[in-house]
Amino acid sequence: LGNGLAKTPQMGWNSWNYFRCDINENVIKETADALINTGLARLGYNYVNIDDCWAEPERDSEGKMVPDAEAFPSGMKALADYVHSKGLKIGIYSDAGLYTCQVRPGSLRHEYDDAALFASWDIDYLKYDNCFNMGIDPKERYPPMRDALNSTGRIIFYSLCEWGVNDPALWAGKIGNSWRTTDDIVDTWESMTAIADINDKWAAYAGPGGWNDPDMLEVGNGGMTYQEYRAHFSIWALMKAPLLIGCEVRNMTAETYEILTNEEVIAVNQDPLGIQGRKAHTDGPDDCYQIWAGPLSGQRLVVALWNRCSEPATITAKWGAIGLESSASYSVRDLWKHEFVSQNSVTSFSAQVEPHGCEMYVLAPVTAASST
Ligand code: DGJ
Repeated sequence: LGNGLAKTPQMGWNSWNYFRCDINENVIKETADALINTGLARLGYNYVNIDDCWAEPERDSEGKMVPDAEAFPSGMKALADYVHSKGLKIGIYSDAGLYTCQVRPGSLRHEYDDAALFASWDIDYLKYDNCFNMGIDPKERYPPMRDALNSTGRIIFYSLCEWGVNDPALWAGKIGNSWRTTDDIVDTWESMTAIADINDKWAAYAGPGGWNDPDMLEVGNGGMTYQEYRAHFSIWALMKAPLLIGCEVRNMTAETYEILTNEEVIAVNQDPLGIQGRKAHTDGPDDCYQIWAGPLSGQRLVVALWNRCSEPATITAKWGAIGLESSASYSVRDLWKHEFVSQNSVTSFSAQVEPHGCEMYVLAPVTAASST
């Protein structure tokens, strides 16, 4: 969407994956504080996004949505002011249907009023869900909110949450800043890998202004191992997915923190070229030795060696498999060890990869001048 936003994938936090409906203004404020205090905000995680359950079940007598009186007694404008005072941005949630999935008011046929209300609260981001949609085609239900947001005069990030219905990558680029390519993520290895594979199919349609959204991060929520979460984060970064943290950032383990704050992996996600990396080559039993790769700015390349088997494996990236000239020479930097594994690789490089682990590298061309 040409609203000037999403030049790179959005980064931040969203309440749903960890808190579900158990949200309130203190959680949101303390999460904003935690994003600052942990240094996550400085790394780019700057949207604080409230998901479903913020609203009272009924609109008021004027037809306006009302924040849940118990959970958000100070109201959304005050909360937005607080989040803004920290230098962060605030996101809210509604639904392109009669109700949200948790049966709060939806915005179908209230698009202009609701967008005006959100703008009056100084909201910066809208996630727009797909429940109670009356069976109406998403291609008809999502544009009115784009136009309504646009009419407010406030620049608001528009995140489509249509669950991949009707192949949104094919039509959503002119409607939203990101669109969901799949059903909801679950905090398991099976869900995460299946979603990665579906999202991969739509790589060609992502780019600055509009991104494929394979759903929010589960890193830190406890359902996957350290290696699996590292793979989740690496592949989401490589696929130019939104990096929306979904865990309790007020209380992260050292491992969760290490994963979410890997600046070299974040830099891959935020690379200005904005090309979604892809599954480039598979090998081994059930194709579980996988190479995912994609171009970066400066003639560089990101390459992930992902072992989806349950035994350790040596995975080799041959230049031909990742689209490089056989004679070309590259430096290879390990983004998890934060060191160069080679200053001058020709034809291939290999690594031993843990079960379900993912090693990630940036390859940079070695020119005649820099190699002497
Ligand atoms: C479905 C969405 O896909 C989820 O991300 C979340 O927003 C829930 N609805 C909330 O009800």
